[in-house]
Amino acid sequence: MMILAPSILAADLGRLEEEIEAVAKAGAEYIHIDVMDGMFVPSISFGMPLIKSIRRYTDKVFDVHMMVEEPGRYAKAMKEAGADLLCVHQEACKHLDRTIQEIRSLGMKVGVALNPATPIEMLECVLDQIDMVLLMSVNPGFGGQDLIPYTLKKIHCLRRHLIDLGLHTDIQVDGGITFENVRQVIEAGANVIVAGSSVFRGDAAANTQAYLRIFEDFGH
Ligand code: DX5
Ligand code: ZN
Repeated sequence: MMILAPSILAADLGRLEEEIEAVAKAGAEYIHIDVMDGMFVPSISFGMPLIKSIRRYTDKVFDVHMMVEEPGRYAKAMKEAGADLLCVHQEACKHLDRTIQEIRSLGMKVGVALNPATPIEMLECVLDQIDMVLLMSVNPGFGGQDLIPYTLKKIHCLRRHLIDLGLHTDIQVDGGITFENVRQVIEAGANVIVAGSSVFRGDAAANTQAYLRIFEDFGH
């Protein structure tokens, strides 16, 4: 099943209620929330208080992308703020297994993210314990960058490997996705598509619908 996850990093933060309502009504299943700590990535975005305030705007899945060092420190607070799916970077966790178990025991779905240059083999030992792999298609930290072409090959290899293992794990792809390249990303094997600028620049509802129409071509 294909899912669109609009990234509110690219939304007008002063009009978040309208922006979230627009994409939710138009059919986006996830709201992608980029949390940055100024250490794991250069920039700082937002955290628990914002997530808590926007939680009342929608029942959609809050897909929280933790670009944070040792994100396990915030797992409980993120759950309390309203996260449904917590995605942590492999590169940011010294004890990835412990962090995964902690997120699960709090009742959230677990995702693990990989930077473009991190090989998919890094997840071999935990693949059957997680709900989603997030393959970054840009270096994390900012919206509006161009997709790095070699990441398409990683998506393809991971999907093939998951099929070999008999796993139906979601593959989320994040960064630089546009109406021009999204078909290639889906064909490579992704089924959760993050889109920031290409949704929120312009008419967010119309852009969401345009993505969902593309998804239909792939049998949804
Ligand atoms: C990048 C973030 C992305 C970003 C995507 O560090 O993780 O979620 O908001 O934005 P676009 O779609 O503009 O590349
Ligand atoms: Zn993200």
